[in-house]
Amino acid sequence: MCGIVAYTGKKREIVPTLLDALVRLEYRGYDSAGIAVSCPDGIEILKTSGKVKALQEKVSSDWKEKVKDAVAGIAHTRWATHGPPTEINAHPHTDEKKNFALVHNGIIDNYSAIKERLQAKGVKFSSETDTEALAHLIAECYMGDLCNAVAAALKQVTGTFGIAVISRDSPGVIVAARKGSPIVIGVGEDEAFVASDVSPLLPYTKRVIYLNDNDIAVVRPDRIDIRNMDNIPVSREVAHIGWDIKAAEKGGHEHFMIKEIFEQPEAIANALRGRMDTELGTSKLDGLNFSETDVAGISRIIIAACGTSLHAGMLGEYFFEDLANIPVEVDQAAEFRYRNPIIQKGTLALAISQSGETADTLAAVREAKLKGAIVASICNVVGSTIARETGRGVYLHAGPEIGVASTKAFTCEVAILLLMALKFGRAARLSRQSGFALISEIEKASGLVKNVIDGAQKIEKIARKYARARDFFFIGRGYLYPVALEGALKLKEISYIHAEGYHAAELKHGPIALLDENVPVVVMANDLPGKDKIIGNLQECRARKAPVIAIVTEGDKDAKKYSDDFIEIPRASDFVTPLPTVVALQLFAYYTARERGCSIDQPRNLAKSVTVE
Ligand code: M6R
Repeated sequence: MCGIVAYTGKKREIVPTLLDALVRLEYRGYDSAGIAVSCPDGIEILKTSGKVKALQEKVSSDWKEKVKDAVAGIAHTRWATHGPPTEINAHPHTDEKKNFALVHNGIIDNYSAIKERLQAKGVKFSSETDTEALAHLIAECYMGDLCNAVAAALKQVTGTFGIAVISRDSPGVIVAARKGSPIVIGVGEDEAFVASDVSPLLPYTKRVIYLNDNDIAVVRPDRIDIRNMDNIPVSREVAHIGWDIKAAEKGGHEHFMIKEIFEQPEAIANALRGRMDTELGTSKLDGLNFSETDVAGISRIIIAACGTSLHAGMLGEYFFEDLANIPVEVDQAAEFRYRNPIIQKGTLALAISQSGETADTLAAVREAKLKGAIVASICNVVGSTIARETGRGVYLHAGPEIGVASTKAFTCEVAILLLMALKFGRAARLSRQSGFALISEIEKASGLVKNVIDGAQKIEKIARKYARARDFFFIGRGYLYPVALEGALKLKEISYIHAEGYHAAELKHGPIALLDENVPVVVMANDLPGKDKIIGNLQECRARKAPVIAIVTEGDKDAKKYSDDFIEIPRASDFVTPLPTVVALQLFAYYTARERGCSIDQPRNLAKSVTVE
């Protein structure tokens, strides 16, 4: 959940390079930050609580002068797990003599035992973190070779790690390793980088090596050696990053979130491009690597995901059941992992994850594999762990999503799920004509979303009106039930307003007790099957004096007249309507948070990718 970046080489000034890279990584964690550089006289460290900006401000000209001959450096932006986000707990951490400095993502589960053992030997700890135990352990294992020391130390720890280490004795060398937390090496000409994801590397190199679990790499400017923890060399290929640097910048927008909301028409078009077969009325998803016979053999689908991706998965359930007649279960990934799920022959476990690194989703993939399921994934980040471990799947091609609130990943995940259901449906009961009809609906998705974005100003006005509310409800039915959940999640995570998403029918089984004139309800009242029932639910809310914001289909004549405010969504088929509808809710959440002056791209307590349980 934290961000790591490291550099070795003499082509750039190390401190500004690492600080710039940290800014690009800040979306992964932003409660404290630090940097350590390897100079001829030893290791110099600077840390601070707060955001990377605070660290940048702390870099004095004297300090810069002191470290001007540095040949390598490591930097970190933290999302606190062990110990509050203070300067002392910020990474990098060192051993007592400052011979080694380490940045770490993940959690060392057995750090207390290691700490107690080392303390009994007289080692003094200064922080409350699990990471510091690893720094002291490396010092204890050191016999003259940094890589061997790191490997020996890592053999003693349980838990997860992505690390980068420098040492006083080996200036210019970075040792990096991973288990359960991603590490990527950026390959340059006479320079090299280490990072927790590719985003900080984009301005410098597009050539990367993804480490596998239990890989350990010795990174020098002109040479990268990778081995496993038993010191056996392993070979990892150099991959090319397809993302453009511009895609990871705000491009004149106030926040990444609004940029990413506005990017959706193009992102959806990219996700769909080349994937619809207009001759056979099906979809082409080569990465799935399923023949028609393979598809026909799938008798059940279990979707595992978290957060926004889980809501996309819930829509997938409707798609697969309606179009392909395949029973689907959707599991919060952690629940799947711990509840001993039943996997039968023909069960497909489908993981959905923007980052491809979410710890619980990854664990669900591993559990499903172990139990003999066919596994596949829908991910955005190319080369991410889930994408690699499932071995088959579909990439979103949505471009980097930097805002912590997921937006374009959701719509692209839904678009891909539709394509998958179409493919599975065509291998089952769906006729060619129905396939064509669906394709022509899906083709409209990007334009429908654009239409909603064009009406953003009206949504902004409504958002401002309700921005001071303390509680919100979002209700929906059928295809718009997961959309209601997603609308509530968006609002709560960036505006800090308490917002609950409910099935409209569930409201009167308890939550309705909370409604009064201060609790607005956003009602998904689009022209889809079940509209008459949702209008009944809307009336129930009004009867409790709750202000109602109705989401309606253009041309609506009934839901509108019972609501205090309404947002119009263009008319579309059942399958596609969730896309423009959710975009309206994303905009609503964004403008509400903006009105409240919230930190939209980096909401409190959150991180972009949740790599711990
Ligand atoms: O990268 P993933 O899609 O696996 O992430 C899952 C959730 O952590 C993520 O969707 C989270 O809920 C977002 N903050 C939602 O906006």
